[in-house]
Amino acid sequence: MMIDGKTRTLGLLGDPVEHTMSPLIHNTLSETLGLNNVYVPFHTKAEDLGEAVKGAYALNILGLNVTVPHKNEVMKYLSELDEGAQAIGAANTLVRTENGYKGYNTDMLGLLREVRSYGVELDAHDVIILGAGGAAKAVAYMCGANGAGHVYILNRTVSKAQAIADHMNDFFGKQNMTAMSIQDYHKLPEKKYIVFQSTSKGLYPHIDEVIIEDPAFYQMVSVGIDLIYKPFCTRFMSLCRQAGAKSYNGLKMLLYQGIIAYELWNDISVDEKTADMIYQKLLK
Ligand code: ATR
Repeated sequence: MMIDGKTRTLGLLGDPVEHTMSPLIHNTLSETLGLNNVYVPFHTKAEDLGEAVKGAYALNILGLNVTVPHKNEVMKYLSELDEGAQAIGAANTLVRTENGYKGYNTDMLGLLREVRSYGVELDAHDVIILGAGGAAKAVAYMCGANGAGHVYILNRTVSKAQAIADHMNDFFGKQNMTAMSIQDYHKLPEKKYIVFQSTSKGLYPHIDEVIIEDPAFYQMVSVGIDLIYKPFCTRFMSLCRQAGAKSYNGLKMLLYQGIIAYELWNDISVDEKTADMIYQKLLK
């Protein structure tokens, strides 16, 4: 695609940005769909974030992704927030409006699209979330917003799991989220769960590590989704499979969070064939 006077600019604010796969996702979408957009990484330091958002708006930039470490802080500089982004306390996608940028959390929306693509319905299913960082909060919100049954949030630091459970119980006006220590997994009611692995244990290069080693735990997994995608198959996923459960990595979440951002910016919907074509590129 040639850049010309009508090209619209999209981009990513983060620190660092060198290893991002987002330009590949978005520029391939523009090329495939024939849209005159260009997506550029902008290495942005924390102290410059406010200026960067303001400057982007002044430069007529159509939309931005926001990544580590700015997803929380960026909310200060937005004119409006989608309900999900507000409840999670993090925005990763900014959409240009007449008054400024509106913030969304397409990490959460992407994960939901991924889960549905596997034919998994959260409705009334009990869920275990391993970890209580930023990603876990998005998973907890997704569970709350989509009628999950009981949600157990297990973390090394229980107070962080408790804070998420309290926040979501309050937000949804239900009492279906419980915090526990990772070590107490054997106290979980014995049944099958959808399990989301959101800790950084097992992330490349520490590929032999896993947050729970005990095979007995994996007997309770019906579907195990690891938010990690490097490596493609984590030890968590192998342990799920050894116990006869299905398991998936976080690559589709990455893909769909990008696609949903692109859909918001361009007011289009991207079909599954295009999504799959880009997925194949990400696998390489
Ligand atoms: P993200 O934004 O990807 O969720 P994060 O907010 O840094 O990342 O959260 C990392 C998660 O991995 C946390 O739940 C963290 O546990 P603590 O809250 O107790 O710190 C978990 N984690 C990271 N390394 C871990 C380890 N070695 N053992 C257990 N949990 C670990």
